[in-house]
Amino acid sequence: MRADVLTLFPGIFSGFLQESLIKIAQEKGRLEIVLHDWRAFAKGPRRTVDDKPFGGGPGMVLKPEPIFECLENLLQSVEPKPRMLLMTPQGRRFTQSKARELSRESRLVFLCGRYEGFDQRIVRGWPWEEISIGDYVLNGGEVPTMAVIEAVSRLIPGVLGHDLSAAEESFETGLLDHPHYTRPAEFRGMEVPPALRSGDHARIALWRRDEALRLTRERRPDLLPALPGSTPLGPPKEL
Ligand code: 6GU
Repeated sequence: MRADVLTLFPGIFSGFLQESLIKIAQEKGRLEIVLHDWRAFAKGPRRTVDDKPFGGGPGMVLKPEPIFECLENLLQSVEPKPRMLLMTPQGRRFTQSKARELSRESRLVFLCGRYEGFDQRIVRGWPWEEISIGDYVLNGGEVPTMAVIEAVSRLIPGVLGHDLSAAEESFETGLLDHPHYTRPAEFRGMEVPPALRSGDHARIALWRRDEALRLTRERRPDLLPALPGSTPLGPPKEL
């Protein structure tokens, strides 16, 4: 997969691209990330990328011209057309199933906003999918872009060491993950639950499923109606 990222702050990505799984994915040739500072396409001695909003109000708005030029330069002769993601708090919420979907693409383009927002002609000018990573406001689309690239890249075949580990974690099963333990069996008075030390695989699986369900009911009851076997009316009542 190749991901092109349009950002005014490419430096934000440097540690992210040079460590751990993202670094390995690039070394293996499974992932290529190319940063584009679109200020390079801005005109004038100051290379201005923003301007005051029509209609007044606080903050600045990102001008359309340099972003259009940067994208036209990037997308000429690119086939097939990439999926285009515009990172904005006004977007649809990013989910694990969207990450799965994007992991099957060969090319993605990310546009990271800053300031009050984009001139709407940028939104109208290209077939964007507008994406948000949650209900809180960040200074720009850079951290959300890294979150999406990380969630997507670990689903690309051959990136994670063992492909099952991605499938079994939270949100792929529809539940929060169960707790994990390693040695020692007792640490500062805290014991590993006996079920996990029983060697009985059915008992271990049951314990993990119960813990996952308990955590999900407690913290994320909104996830439960989406589970296979649950009905729109909720679980059957006990007699
Ligand atoms: Cl994509 N951008 C900004 N600025 N804030 C956000 C976001 C994106 N997603 C959640 N908050």
